[in-house]
Amino acid sequence: MKAFSFITADVARYTAEHTTAPDDVLRDLAEETLKAAGDDAEMQISPEQGTLLTMITQISGARNAVEIGTFTGYSSICIARGLPAGGRLTCFDVSAEWTSIARRYWERAGVAGLIELRLGPAAETLREFPVRPEVDLAFIDADKAGYPVYYEAVMSRLAPGGIILVDNTLRHGTVADYTDGEAATMRGFNDLVRADDRVTSTLLPIADGLTLIRKR
Ligand SMILES: C[S@@+](CC[C@H](N)C(=O)[O-])C[C@H]1O[C@@H](n2cnc3c(N)ncnc32)[C@H](O)[C@@H]1O
Repeated sequence: MKAFSFITADVARYTAEHTTAPDDVLRDLAEETLKAAGDDAEMQISPEQGTLLTMITQISGARNAVEIGTFTGYSSICIARGLPAGGRLTCFDVSAEWTSIARRYWERAGVAGLIELRLGPAAETLREFPVRPEVDLAFIDADKAGYPVYYEAVMSRLAPGGIILVDNTLRHGTVADYTDGEAATMRGFNDLVRADDRVTSTLLPIADGLTLIRKR
């Protein structure tokens, strides 16, 4: 389990123990990711976030979802599992290596038929994605400097009432106290969302911070 500086280890453990646990597919994926990626496995969302992603996808009734930042596939499986029959998830990532693991686990999870992967820098591949207000739910979890660009690209394709979820918005809690480096990048993004009168948003202190945004 990941421990974040603003949540004590005991509280993190208790929270995980009182959240619906991941199944064998997600557990095996987390284990394989740790073996393959070492410290970079930290990029994977936490199991509690995964459960939340599935639930938000279900509760919102989303049919057409996008994900920016797929890595080895954990969050994409969680979103795809919340979609109804006939739903679609388009994944954007720059890494053929990491997403080759995702592809195997999409098959194993039985969601491969719902998912399309677009490989390349997301700022470019998103430009080629049709600009129609048809996206119901988006998850942003790629390079943090790119968040403002991804946010606008998604916003212009988001249906009214559509949802955007953004990961790592607390940057291990540093955003509250630090004004330089990675914290500054995320503070800039968080300020941008707060000032955006097209949306209602709330920053949830789960894992590394997850911002839930709804387009009005
Ligand atoms: C934090 S990880 C995503 C974790 C994933 N959501 C999960 O649950 O396992 C970030 C991902 O963003 C991808 N990425 C980094 N820069 C990118 C870019 N410019 N365009 C697209 N993807 C990018 C990386 O290849 C990596 O797979």
